[in-house]
Amino acid sequence: METFDLVIRGATIATAAEVFKADIGVRGGRVAALADHLPDGERTIDATGLLALPGGVDSHCHLDQPTGDGTVMADDFLTGTRAAAFGGTTTVIPFACQQKGRSLRDAVDDYHRRAAGKPVVDYAFHLIVSDPTPTVRGQELPALIRDGYTSFKIYMTYDDLKLSDREILEVLDVARSEGAMVMMHAENADCIAWLTDKLERAGQTAPFFHGLSRPPVVEREATHRAIALSELADVPILIVHVSGAEAVEQIRWAQGRGLRLYAETCPQYLFLTADDLGGPHGPPGFEGAKCVCSPPPRDAANQRVIWDALENGVFQVFSSDHAPFRYDDPQGKKVRGEAASFRHVPNGIPGIETRLPLLFSEGVVRGRITLPRFVELTAAGPARMYGLHPRKGTIAVGADADIVLWDPERRVTITNADLHHNVDYTPYEGMAVTGWPVVTLSRGVVVCDHGRLLAPAGHGEFLRCASPDLARPKGVRPPAPAF
Ligand code: URP
Ligand code: ZN
Ligand code: ZN
Repeated sequence: METFDLVIRGATIATAAEVFKADIGVRGGRVAALADHLPDGERTIDATGLLALPGGVDSHCHLDQPTGDGTVMADDFLTGTRAAAFGGTTTVIPFACQQKGRSLRDAVDDYHRRAAGKPVVDYAFHLIVSDPTPTVRGQELPALIRDGYTSFKIYMTYDDLKLSDREILEVLDVARSEGAMVMMHAENADCIAWLTDKLERAGQTAPFFHGLSRPPVVEREATHRAIALSELADVPILIVHVSGAEAVEQIRWAQGRGLRLYAETCPQYLFLTADDLGGPHGPPGFEGAKCVCSPPPRDAANQRVIWDALENGVFQVFSSDHAPFRYDDPQGKKVRGEAASFRHVPNGIPGIETRLPLLFSEGVVRGRITLPRFVELTAAGPARMYGLHPRKGTIAVGADADIVLWDPERRVTITNADLHHNVDYTPYEGMAVTGWPVVTLSRGVVVCDHGRLLAPAGHGEFLRCASPDLARPKGVRPPAPAF
C-alpha cells in the first residue's frame, strides 16, 4: 500500500452528519482513508483527546475591499487569511465589489491582483453587483457565473451600492437563468436616511444612535420585500447578517410557505447588544464605534431568537461578516482623525478569528447546538450554498484535507493582543471561551500549529465555485404547483 503523506491518529471526527473515531490518512492534499489503525505516514500527528473538524468556511468576510470614501480595510489577503487560519477557518469568500459606473469584470481582475501571492488558506470570490447595466446583466454577469463566480451580493441600502426593486428583479432573473446564489443585504435605505437626518437634527450623533437609525422594522420591511421579489422572480436567495426576531419571523414565514429562502447570521447578533454601541449602559464617548455594523446588534431577547433559529434550522450559514476597520486610525472608525457623526463611521466589525471559538464555546460546549450542527453551520452549509461541497466543508475520502484539530477543553480569554488580524481591537475583548483550534491544515499542509504560522503567504489557492447545491431549508414543504 502506498504510504500516506500524513496520518492523524486518535482524533474524534465530526462532520455535519456524524461523530466518529478513526485515523485520517492524507495523500496529495486530500483525505485518502478514514479507518482504524492506519499505518504511520511520512508524518504522523497524535491527536488523542482532540476533535478533528472540517476547516471552517467563512462565506461572508471583507478583505482589502476598496471603499471609495477614504476609509481603508485593515486586513488584506495575508493578514485576513492568517487570522482566519488561526481561528480554524480554511476557506474564505470575500467580495469583488463593482463600483457604480465601472465594469464588474474589472472589479474581479482588480481583486485578483489584490489577492495575488498573499492568502494562506483557499479563497473564492463573491461578486457585489452595484450597477446592473444591460451589459452587466446580459454579458459580464453570465460570463462570470460560468467562470466560477457563482454568487453575488446585492444591497437594498448604502447610496453607492443599493439597487432599486426593479434592478433587483432584473439581476434575480440572471441568477435564475445562470444558476447563481444571490445574497441580500436587507435594510430599507429611505427609512435609514429619514431617521438619520432626524437624529442629526436633534444633535444625536454619537455611535449609540447608529442603532436607532436602523431599528428592527427597517430590517423587517426589507426582508419581507426581498422575499417577495425572490418569490416573484422564482429564484432562491439568502438573506445575510440577520440580526433579530422580526427578520427571523419573516424568514420562517417564507420557509413555511415552501419558498427557497436561506439565511445567515453572525457572532455580533449572538454576543453583542445595542449597549455595546454606547448609551447609559455602554462604553463612553466614541468607543461604541467599535461595534458599529449593519444591521446593528439588538438586545438579549433578540439574541435568544437568533440562538433558537440557529438550532432549529432557520439558518443555514454562520459567517463572520468580518469588515475590519481600525479604531484609532484616520482611515478607520475615526474618519479623518475625528469622532464623527455615526453617519460617517464605517460600518463593520472584525471577527474572522473569533467566529468559530465563540460559537463552539457558547453553542456546543453549553449544549445549545450539537457538534454536527456546528459543522453544518460553519463549514458544510456555506460550502454547499456556494458550490464548494464536497471538496470543502467535510472530512470524507476525496475531500481536500482541510482539517482543524480542536482542543475542546482549552480555556481562552479573548484578547486582541493574541489575535492575528490587523485591527487594533476586538469587540469580544475579555470574553472567556472553552475550546480552541490548535492545529489547522489546508490541503494537508500544516498552516498553524499551536500559535505558530507555518504556511507561506500564497499557499492559498483560488477556488472556482459550482452552482449552489441546495436542499430545501429543513422542515420546509415544497410549494403547490402554480398551474
Ligand atoms: O456593517 C457591515 N455589515 N459592514 C459590512 C458590509 C456589509 O453590509 O456586510
Ligand atoms: Zn451587508
Ligand atoms: Zn458584509
